[in-house]
Amino acid sequence: MVIKKLVIAHRGASFYRPENTLAAFELAYQQGADGIETDIQLSKDSIPMIIHDANINRVTHATGNVNQWSSEKLKTFDIGSWFDLKYQSERMMTLTDLLQWAKGKNLLLNLELKTKKNLNPNIEQIVYQEVIQHGLLDQVIFSSFNSATLKKLKQLNSETRVALLTKRHSLSLQQMCEEFHFDGIHLKYNYVNRTVTEKYHRIGKYLGVYTVNISSQMRKCFQANCDMIITDRPDLAIEKRHLFF
Ligand code: G3P
Ligand code: CA
Repeated sequence: MVIKKLVIAHRGASFYRPENTLAAFELAYQQGADGIETDIQLSKDSIPMIIHDANINRVTHATGNVNQWSSEKLKTFDIGSWFDLKYQSERMMTLTDLLQWAKGKNLLLNLELKTKKNLNPNIEQIVYQEVIQHGLLDQVIFSSFNSATLKKLKQLNSETRVALLTKRHSLSLQQMCEEFHFDGIHLKYNYVNRTVTEKYHRIGKYLGVYTVNISSQMRKCFQANCDMIITDRPDLAIEKRHLFF
């Protein structure tokens, strides 16, 4: 897939449905998103689980860290009713569930590996192996705020696509992308403008922007020639994108 003005659904279509659930992923797909962004943490038995926070407090009725619970138990938790009771049948997904669902669909998967503070040891190898087993490497972009995680993924296989997540742009990040052959950068939307985009394009890297949920911001990103918008509202971004083609 060419990375050009892509609309990526942040945690699925999470403006409308509970984040990181099958319901949110299905809606994003129906709305015509080019891809889905999601977050991965490891369970106690080192199974990759689809959840943003390191703990389960916000999105389930239970408490504790993801890595204190077995994957079998995590899979039983309701992660929908915090958003709306009508989603009470949504259950926490494993990466396996997600890959099986995405296989055969024309959909990019942006897998964000959460590795802050030595959380989730060896997650790079575990997730990479699973993607390979499903034959989906071409469909995946890995991202992380932790550059060491991206370096490990590139060491596993230089063909693996990786993007550095950052809250702000700086020359050193640009140099890092070049030096370590990262494929792109996912930048917070406040820092995006045409000059920044051009800097990345000049060195052959793509520029994604997160998390863009307001029409005016979407227009600004497309005007700045960004390659990817990560949004909770893929339907709105697709509507705005029409103005720029
Ligand atoms: O990938 C963009 C965005 O998801 C990064 O921040 O906290 O929403 O995972 P966060
Ligand atoms: Ca994320």
